[in-house]
Amino acid sequence: MRTETGQVFKLKDYKPTDFVVERIDLTFELDPRETKVISRVILHRREGVAKDVPLVFDGDELTLDGLQLDGSDIDPALYDVTPDTLVIRGLPESAPFEVTVSTTISPETNTALMGLYRTNGVYCTQCEAEGFRRITYFYDRPDVLAVYTVTIIASKDEAKYLLSNGNYLGGGNYDEGRHFAAWFDPHPKPSYLFALVAGDLGLIEDTFTTMSGREVALKIYVEHGKEPRAGYAMDALKRSMRWDEEVYGREYDLDIFQIVAVSDFNMGAMENKGLNVFNDKYVLADPATATDADFANIEAIIAHEYFHNWTGNRITCRDWFQLCLKEGLTVYRDHAFSADQRSAPVKRIAEIRLLKAHQFPEDAGPLAHPVRPESYREINNFYTTTVYEKGSEVVRMIRTVVGAEDFRKGMDLYFERHDGDAATIEDFLACFAEASGRDFKQFSLWYSQAGTPSVTVSTDWNEAKKTFKVTLEQSLAPTPGQSRKAPMHIPLAYGLILPDGSEFAGHPTGKEAADGVLHLTRRRQVFTFTGVPGRPVLSINRGFSAPVNIAMEQSTADLAHIARHDSDGVARWQAISEQATRHLVEASRLARDGRNLPSARDLADILVATAADDSLEPAFRAQALTLPAESDIAREIGSNIDPDAIHAAREAVLSEIARAGLAVFSDLADGAPKGPYSPGAADAGRRALAGIAMNYAAIAEGSPARAKAAFDAADNMTTLSQALQVMTQNFPAAAETRQALDTFRTRFADDPLVLDKWYSLQALAPGAGTRARVEELLAGKDFDRTNPNRMRALVGAFTSGNPTGFNAADGGGYRLLAREVVDIDKRNPQLAARLLTAMRSWRSLEAERQEQARLALVSIRSAGNLSADVSDIVDRMLA
Ligand code: ARG
Ligand code: ZN
Repeated sequence: MRTETGQVFKLKDYKPTDFVVERIDLTFELDPRETKVISRVILHRREGVAKDVPLVFDGDELTLDGLQLDGSDIDPALYDVTPDTLVIRGLPESAPFEVTVSTTISPETNTALMGLYRTNGVYCTQCEAEGFRRITYFYDRPDVLAVYTVTIIASKDEAKYLLSNGNYLGGGNYDEGRHFAAWFDPHPKPSYLFALVAGDLGLIEDTFTTMSGREVALKIYVEHGKEPRAGYAMDALKRSMRWDEEVYGREYDLDIFQIVAVSDFNMGAMENKGLNVFNDKYVLADPATATDADFANIEAIIAHEYFHNWTGNRITCRDWFQLCLKEGLTVYRDHAFSADQRSAPVKRIAEIRLLKAHQFPEDAGPLAHPVRPESYREINNFYTTTVYEKGSEVVRMIRTVVGAEDFRKGMDLYFERHDGDAATIEDFLACFAEASGRDFKQFSLWYSQAGTPSVTVSTDWNEAKKTFKVTLEQSLAPTPGQSRKAPMHIPLAYGLILPDGSEFAGHPTGKEAADGVLHLTRRRQVFTFTGVPGRPVLSINRGFSAPVNIAMEQSTADLAHIARHDSDGVARWQAISEQATRHLVEASRLARDGRNLPSARDLADILVATAADDSLEPAFRAQALTLPAESDIAREIGSNIDPDAIHAAREAVLSEIARAGLAVFSDLADGAPKGPYSPGAADAGRRALAGIAMNYAAIAEGSPARAKAAFDAADNMTTLSQALQVMTQNFPAAAETRQALDTFRTRFADDPLVLDKWYSLQALAPGAGTRARVEELLAGKDFDRTNPNRMRALVGAFTSGNPTGFNAADGGGYRLLAREVVDIDKRNPQLAARLLTAMRSWRSLEAERQEQARLALVSIRSAGNLSADVSDIVDRMLA
């Protein structure tokens, strides 16, 4: 992989290639250590490019075996080659020509999991963002679209299936126990969408008939014996295909759609044209091994990758700065799909929680960057929650601004106008501007200004005049490289809730549109409502219409009024969550100063009443009962964080709520559905409520007995892991907990994905003592440091999900992470860099921990020989 060069890539430097690729034919002779790759590329010089300009192809750790022009060897004087570039001079002035590039690569020793590698004996590829250049020299950039033909030759024993993008052309026997297969993809595509898979795998098959009546073969390949666990993914795929037809009018465009699940994968999954490759964690599920959350993730990621076929593949990105063009939009689409398949408000609540838990801290720390970055050193470090999740929120705001109808019009225009293009954010916005007749100039700041805007809200009720005035003021703090910011267009959905719980129907004076949205476009703006019958309560940023922080003095009574009466379920949850957050922040501050904690009685009353309210969906009640996490409280406090104080305060509040509601919780804890397991949202919601109720009940009882009994009786993974989590979180040292962990380990010893849960639960146990346990697990003789899922399950869970364990005051957690990052970096830079981001909020810690964290970062910096990935992250964190 690239080591640090300090080279910076800039959006403003974009320039098309000098040569245009027409098509590419690839032949692979697969071998674990010596795979031969022959690439024949037909190109012509772009019009206007001078005849002495050479062809420059990208490479990464490549060795060149041969190079020909139109079938004849090229004179070595006419080209220069290094492991990362191939420069060819003297090429034809205008006629098309064919360049043949031969390379030999070693999949077996490719531990970076980029390019062609082996996982459990299966050959597979990951080319996004810049992995294709590890296979052959080529224009490895998203604006070079070509038609691909791929021939794969391999030993029959080793690789029963030989797969690539597009439609199957044919195949047969080759020589000496080898066979071959050829694939043709008629849709021009960039190299990052290329894929090859070859191996001995299990297969499940189905078909899908598209809206125009074409039959598509659907195939999912998994490890032998895991076929029964692929059924849910297949079902999710068919639902996704139907949904994209119904909601966006988008049909699938090849004869076959294939998914392959592999066990070593750096990310979640990859949308290669017609041949998606997945981390098996996001394919395999059955009731005995997967939780409800796993099922929901599989549904979402299958949909996400499928939806990329139109938003990403048919229309791709001009350059990697435009990554959010495909990712933000596709996340937006998969969110809408899941909302349609499940409960929309509950899905939205989960999205808000995740955005605040991950994206807000990124935006507030040293790694903050705009949704569309303007420069990067290593593009792999920009597959971030800002690009994905904030990118999705920006698309959601576009819909809020133009309305559902014009949004669909804009999308139709985008598909029609840019099909086959490598497009930009400007292209995308122009479609909505045209469809709606609005100007998106100010709105586009959402793509270029980093940071989470703050909106201060104040209200003024005039009883005599019956007027209600809402004053909004926005600000945006500096972020790396951006000291001054312009005011943004912030669409804030709102409602005025009257004393009787009904909603005021009027809208602000002087505003023509009554779309239920306050459009804040200046630094400070006043909205006046007249003829309001009684003092209203303002419900603002309903449904989280804008990804901003709201600062508003609102009494507990007003929050309770919203929580009771708001017509919007998400807003009701927002009010409850605001009340919980305020209380927890206050309690944490007092705990920090060693003072007595305030009574949580009011909060407990609301939560217990919500828990007991049968008119509410169980999944909603489960969300309401889930207190803000310790990391959420830390984010709200913002600086001088003492994780131990936050933990102590939150524990005290949990136990006060638990005691206040023991009877209710104890009842609900038994409320999980009985009988055959269904992964559907209704049953999952009931299990979620039962699980959180079990946690409260166990806390009130001060005993793991109830959870142990649930563990012993569980007939599905959701209940089993809920019970185990209640034990490991609250009673880590109890004999029952030890026993349950041992049982779990023995039962799932041969199931890596389930064992990952066993590692995570232990890594998440609070307290400074957990680090020693993590070290013990890392040192286990069967612990596989090369498997990304396993590393994320143990080291990732500990460092990003365990505030008291990771931030132990002696700095041991930071040193552990630093040591592992430097070690992993030698094999898999992407994984190392990703794990390191767990330290992105280090500057908001209290002084002593900050110093320990800094020392750990400096130790990484001085380790030497860092990858571009890790050096980029560590430099930005220390800057
Ligand atoms: N495009 C993939 C997705 O659907 C992510 C792949 C990113 N891979 C990487 N190595 N950076 O989100
Ligand atoms: Zn994606």
